[in-house]
Amino acid sequence: MKERVFEMKRVLKDTGSIYLHCDWHAAHYLKIMLDEVFGEEHFQNECIWYYKGAGVSPRRWARRHDTILWYSKGKTWFFDPDPVRDEYAATTKERFSHYIGNVRGKHDYGEQTLNPLGKHPDDVWQIKIVAPSARERLGYPTQKPEELLDRIIVSSCPTDGIVLDPFAGCGTTMVVAHRLKRQWVGIDISPTACNLSRRRLMKVGALDVKLVGMPASIDDLRALKPFEFQNWIIDRINGIQANRQSGDMGIDGWTFFLHEPVQVKQSEGVGRNVVDNFETAVNRGGKTRGFILAFSFTRGSHEEAARARREGMDIQLVTVDELLDRLDEVFVRMGTSATGALPGLEAAPMPKIESGRHSADELIKSIKDEIEV
Ligand SMILES: C[S@@+](CC[C@H](N)C(=O)[O-])C[C@H]1O[C@@H](n2cnc3c(N)ncnc32)[C@H](O)[C@@H]1O
Repeated sequence: MKERVFEMKRVLKDTGSIYLHCDWHAAHYLKIMLDEVFGEEHFQNECIWYYKGAGVSPRRWARRHDTILWYSKGKTWFFDPDPVRDEYAATTKERFSHYIGNVRGKHDYGEQTLNPLGKHPDDVWQIKIVAPSARERLGYPTQKPEELLDRIIVSSCPTDGIVLDPFAGCGTTMVVAHRLKRQWVGIDISPTACNLSRRRLMKVGALDVKLVGMPASIDDLRALKPFEFQNWIIDRINGIQANRQSGDMGIDGWTFFLHEPVQVKQSEGVGRNVVDNFETAVNRGGKTRGFILAFSFTRGSHEEAARARREGMDIQLVTVDELLDRLDEVFVRMGTSATGALPGLEAAPMPKIESGRHSADELIKSIKDEIEV
């Protein structure tokens, strides 16, 4: 993390702030590291995000908080608590009742101050985690609640400021920044996460999102983790991701419009037996056409596909080269265009086996990086 935090400091504005979120595994190490990089004199708060949840061990207190470390870059920094002020306690309101509603602005009462906008917020925030059933949930296990990001951005980023989330995940920070009319930049090592973020951003009206550094060549695609590769391919054909159960049966996704099975192989020289097994899977799904996508195919696999075709089963072999250079032709073969169905085709019903996506869960497991900013 240290070298990354160092770069974050480099790009941060002089009056900017960094909020680093982590749980109990790493909070103490990261505070020492941030003291080194930012200087302990620039430590501002250790914010506690407190949440309710299930799952307790009878042998210890229930773990119900995460830590968010806030450092400023310099001696002065932007901080506006007004939009996130808390309500005063009933007893306080009672004591100050002769002020509330009568006057505008801040009012002294002895040494204390009562602000009509509310109480100065504490460094302990009770915010609900994103429940498995929540509408905002995208299936990303570490997805943060929008309310948490809202609180940080609205108080610590001026309206003409820029928010950077260098571990963007499914894009919560960017979505909230966009809604709050701040400029934003997100970074993520995973192309799947970037695509997920882009889709989510489009839903909140960010239509001109620029994706930089996505895989663009055969070599880039070869270097992807298997799961990332599969997601990239399915995204490229505007397809539908299969869940794990269908994946185990040899179907990794479906084409966008006709919902025909797709299998993805991150390999060269895909052979006869792959075609043979896939034919069985397609058949089992009640379809007569399916697509295998891979870097290359052996002559045997082409012969096997020709044999299947003669028997009424159309197994199409599509190379990654074609996906990169002749995507239009691939769309025609799949009965879809980049924006939807080809004219004259009717949408097929969704196959029963398809139910939801597993991409984000798998992605997180494959990366095992619990630390984020
Ligand atoms: C815990 S998730 C962030 C979730 C996010 N806060 C949200 O609410 O959607 C962490 C992300 O960091 C990304 N990541 C891990 N290592 C990275 C690196 N070295 N550079 C950029 N992103 C990285 C992972 O791909 C993952 O999407």
